[in-house]
Amino acid sequence: MKWLIVAALVAAGRAEPVQYFKEQFEDGDEWQKRWIESKHKSDYGKFQLSAGKFYGDEEKDKGLQTSQDVRYYAISARFEPFSNEGQTLVIQFTVKHEQNIDCGGGYIKLFPSDLNQEDMHSDSTYYIMFGPDICGSGMKKVHVIFTYKEKNYLINKDIRCKDDEYTHLYTLILCPDNTYEIKIDNQKVESGSLEEDWDMLPPKKIKDPDAKQPDDWDEREQIDDPEDKKPEDWDDSEFIPDPESKKPDDWDDEMDGEWESAMIANSNYKGEWNAKMIDNPNFKGPWIHPELDNPEYIAEVNAYRFHNISVIGLDLWQVKSGTIFDNFLITNDEQFAEEFGNETWGLTMDGEKKMKEKQDEEENKKKEAEEKKTKAIDKVDKDEGKTTEEKNKEWKEEEQKQEDGKEKEHEEVAAEEKTNVEVDEEGTYEEAGEEGAESKLKDEL
Ligand SMILES: *[C@@H]1O[C@H](CO)[C@@H](O)[C@H](O)[C@H]1NC(C)=O
Ligand SMILES: *[C@@H]1O[C@H](CO)[C@@H](O)[C@H](O)[C@H]1NC(C)=O
Repeated sequence: MKWLIVAALVAAGRAEPVQYFKEQFEDGDEWQKRWIESKHKSDYGKFQLSAGKFYGDEEKDKGLQTSQDVRYYAISARFEPFSNEGQTLVIQFTVKHEQNIDCGGGYIKLFPSDLNQEDMHSDSTYYIMFGPDICGSGMKKVHVIFTYKEKNYLINKDIRCKDDEYTHLYTLILCPDNTYEIKIDNQKVESGSLEEDWDMLPPKKIKDPDAKQPDDWDEREQIDDPEDKKPEDWDDSEFIPDPESKKPDDWDDEMDGEWESAMIANSNYKGEWNAKMIDNPNFKGPWIHPELDNPEYIAEVNAYRFHNISVIGLDLWQVKSGTIFDNFLITNDEQFAEEFGNETWGLTMDGEKKMKEKQDEEENKKKEAEEKKTKAIDKVDKDEGKTTEEKNKEWKEEEQKQEDGKEKEHEEVAAEEKTNVEVDEEGTYEEAGEEGAESKLKDEL
């Protein structure tokens, strides 16, 4: 298979793929020399090396895992600076939210070479942001943000990300003809052009401000038939005076006001009369506003191009930690990236799923066994006069008390963090204050 690909590459006159950056965390603690934790804040969450609770291969599936709840994370790795001028740029990595994530980022950022890694934070200038972001049920999307002329632009299409507990492969392909493709698990989920799917450039065409719909432009496809007349005997009174109703003998017009007959439904009522519809002989079709070339539009052939790409970083906020990042690849070859995806994520995903299913099954069995036991004891206890239900209740109340204590502690931590984070209506989060990348981003747009 491999020689086939190489042969195809050679036949197509294509060069060997360039690997600008590759990270699989397969050399123990050595990653700590390649990845620099930012010191911009003193309380960034810690990353640890882990394959998680379930995996396809305990060694190969080891990646960077967020390990503390309700924290910001900021870590990055540097590589030789390169420009993607005239080249395809592929960014790929795997994300596993094995903690059943409630709110947190799962994306990467690509930075220029002048980034100070020790001071990397959510306001640091970046080129590209790509990957999944989840917050509540309202926000489950894949971000694709490009910086163009020092402003950040979000993709104007909605791409749903994976929200289960398994490892997923995310790929962004950016081409020198200003087109792109996004894949999840090596399947295309979106593609198009930079110009159409990001609002970096003003629109090519605008509506001619001098053009107006002529007054006599008839947009009605059908009209009432002028020949059609309401028949003489068409009865359109829904109610008529009741013939049985009589003015009482003692009715005093002066005292009681004018007498009115009671009304009853008209049995000859035919409903409202409507003329027959005919095709409008003057119908001209909908009026289309003429467009002009937008004088503000300037074609941009280099929207895709970035110079001195040199750092990949994880700059995140996570409520429930446990996300694992792995199998990072930055290359100029789409096919090579697909193959790399197949050989990493592709090889271990089935095993991972099996292990998880087995764990879930065992968990369920345990639960069932416990339930059975409880029922059995229940019977015995009843004889003793005190039901397990009562005992259970007492026990649960005690447990709840402890939980409440924990929750309160958690809330206090969260409240502190909340000065920096506000959840908006959609369930997306905005970071406020000087840390706010998202809010800053929105301001800029
Ligand atoms: C890339 O970085 C180098 C070294 O920092 C700098 O001299 C050069 O001007 C940069 N190139 C571009 C195109 O920004
Ligand atoms: C990756 O795996 C898929 C599914 O097995 C296969 O269809 C595809 O050809 C593979 N891609 C490469 C580049 O080997």
